[in-house]
Amino acid sequence: MTSRPDRTDAATLAEASLAVHAGIELDSTRALRTPLVMANSFALPDDPSEISWSATAPGLYTRNTGVNQQALERKLAALEGGEDAVALASGVAALHAVFFTHVGAGDHVVVSDVVYEATWRLWTELLPRRYGIQASFVDVTDQDAVRAAMRPETRLVCVEAIANPTTKVADIAMLAEIAHAGGAILMVDSTFTPPPFYRPLSDGADLVVHSLTKYINGHGDAMGGAVIGRTELIEPIKADAMVDVGGVISPFNAWMIQRGSVTLPLRLRQHFTSAQRVAEFLEADPRVAFVAYPGLASHPGHALARRQFGGDAYGGMMALALDGDPDAQNRFVANLRLITSGFSLGHDDSLIVHTAADGPRTATYPAEFRRYGHLRLSVGLEDADDLLADLAAALDATPLRRQD
Ligand SMILES: Cc1ncc(COP(=O)(O)O)c(C=O)c1O
Repeated sequence: MTSRPDRTDAATLAEASLAVHAGIELDSTRALRTPLVMANSFALPDDPSEISWSATAPGLYTRNTGVNQQALERKLAALEGGEDAVALASGVAALHAVFFTHVGAGDHVVVSDVVYEATWRLWTELLPRRYGIQASFVDVTDQDAVRAAMRPETRLVCVEAIANPTTKVADIAMLAEIAHAGGAILMVDSTFTPPPFYRPLSDGADLVVHSLTKYINGHGDAMGGAVIGRTELIEPIKADAMVDVGGVISPFNAWMIQRGSVTLPLRLRQHFTSAQRVAEFLEADPRVAFVAYPGLASHPGHALARRQFGGDAYGGMMALALDGDPDAQNRFVANLRLITSGFSLGHDDSLIVHTAADGPRTATYPAEFRRYGHLRLSVGLEDADDLLADLAAALDATPLRRQD
């Protein structure tokens, strides 16, 4: 049987080619798409005593790894420029897998003061309460504050490259330098900044986390999460959080995400171009109190984003609020026709979600978020003119009662 040439050399291929080809290996069927293998168990030798129950190898049991999972992991490692990857059941399973595997009782972590809700809850409540792990929350744009927060027992620095939901931009090279000087590893949740847009490992991060549910799958129809990095850091995650704790991705979701990710570079270009137009349109409207989007010159992280992300694209996520009473935000959402109220992001359809101004979670958000609340907008793949028309019509249909 002739073998297929290796088309997945990450060193020579551009990202668009890797997104199509990386991870696919021909099996005995010679199918050009990795076949969906839904078996949860595989035929073992009659005497399996030589095989470890906890091996992270294929051909044993699907909680130890599966065919479709491995194909996805190969692609994600190639796209992020990492040695190895592990795909898990959700983005939160991936975050938990990093924390559970690489931080233990008595350790300390430094966490950005703006992170996704579940990361926040894990570090404010669950992990300190259950395992006695100490977490310090810092403004990661303040170099001195991050340095001051490091302790001899700090094991991990945990940030988002563009933070959910305020879009605060973190300087990953600077944070890697501080983490490493203190003997800690840097984990970057790069869900808002997928490859090829940004590759945190190239700026010194040790682990990259993705909610695959978002841009990498891109079609809003499968959940998954991943961690990418050096084998010495990924292999223990596979052994502990996947095999022993069981956060494994389903073969079907891995297959769906592998399929969705083929168009990732193309889709990101469209998301990001439309987002820039939407952000500029909204910022120019006097009825809009603020727009937080790194592509706007008014964003405090604009210059850093320009340098770090290479100049002409700034992501597909923004936060905004109308200059009105708290209910104005809800009335505006109710008046949208194309853009839908929904929790997720990075899908083909544009999604918006309202979060109120007050609460423990928002204490570290910028003043305008605490004054008005905010709408988090994920700009989708609809035609940008249609999105602008939807926003304009909803603004016109939402009378504002200004708050003083
Ligand atoms: C930045 C970030 N990380 C992680 C997650 C969690 O991902 P999942 O919903 O796949 O568990 C989300 C979900 O919104 C997110 O926005």
